[in-house]
Amino acid sequence: PTALRVALLGCGVVGTQVVRLLTEQSADLAARVGAPLELVGVAVRDASAPRDPAVDRALLTEDAEGLVRRADIVIEVMGGIEPARSLLLSAVAAGASVVTANKALLAEDGPTLYRAADEAGVDVYYEAAVAGAIPIVRPVRESLAGDRVRRVLGILNGTTNYVLDQMTTNGLGLDDAVRQAQALGYAEADPTADVEGFDAAAKAAILASLAFHTRVRIDDVSREGISSVTADDVAWAAQTGHVIKLLAICEVTDEGVSARVHPALVPSGHPLATVRGAFNAVFVEADAAGELMFYGRGAGGAPTASAVLGDVVSVARHRVLGGKGPAESHYAQLPIASPQEA
Ligand code: HSE
Repeated sequence: PTALRVALLGCGVVGTQVVRLLTEQSADLAARVGAPLELVGVAVRDASAPRDPAVDRALLTEDAEGLVRRADIVIEVMGGIEPARSLLLSAVAAGASVVTANKALLAEDGPTLYRAADEAGVDVYYEAAVAGAIPIVRPVRESLAGDRVRRVLGILNGTTNYVLDQMTTNGLGLDDAVRQAQALGYAEADPTADVEGFDAAAKAAILASLAFHTRVRIDDVSREGISSVTADDVAWAAQTGHVIKLLAICEVTDEGVSARVHPALVPSGHPLATVRGAFNAVFVEADAAGELMFYGRGAGGAPTASAVLGDVVSVARHRVLGGKGPAESHYAQLPIASPQEA
């Protein structure tokens, strides 16, 4: 069978691990897909910058627009709204399937991309956009599609969970803990997105949209980050048998869909209190299924690359066997409760 041409946009912490997995597992991936996957290029801002040896320098290009036009599958791990949105729209218009980890883009303007993909008959998959390695997008979008989801709640940002954890157990200050999270490859390019709750709010918007079949945008999410959480707060919480966690809570209320992100006191015995470091945990409550719990690594290169590669296999199989998966399902159009001042 003819090889599927894969283009990668972005080669940071996640992109480097995507290249490594594509290379190391090429034989297994080809067997699972039914055709070889050929990495045809890696678009970066500066092709002369130093790179991990896993990345073949001959594949680097600064011409992302040209690259997406010669690919069957475009993987986007560059982040940010532009140029990612234009590049993915070009990719879809040229008939490529898209795999993206870009929660900010999807929470701001996902439906534009989903619609374009529907028109072109190609996939947009984004398991890696929410909670790193944890399979949560597919379960909410597909496995629970026959049920009625009432609530999705959990820890959706690894950086802030790591930071709060370091403040609690090692008495570190916020800034030092953030620097560690950056060094470990958990934080966004601009860690303000983590600390101020924008990253968790984007993920909450994506999950709420899927869970409640209604379009929830990042601006619909009430948001308070952890920048005002002090060492004293953390110590006081511990004295009263609690830990402080940055929670994302999405639910259907009498006023409609409500989504919010804010620091919360969690009793030490609660399963969410035991989520350490850059791990994430998500609880889903559905009428027939009852309560489900998802747990795993929510940030970092290899865990996020695992989710990306899973999507690559899915969309590649569709190209080999025919068919297309759903990007979303938004028939319900429930009202959205206006975000509260946190
Ligand atoms: N900066 C994000 C986090 C990465 O810390 O959770 C995963 O989206």
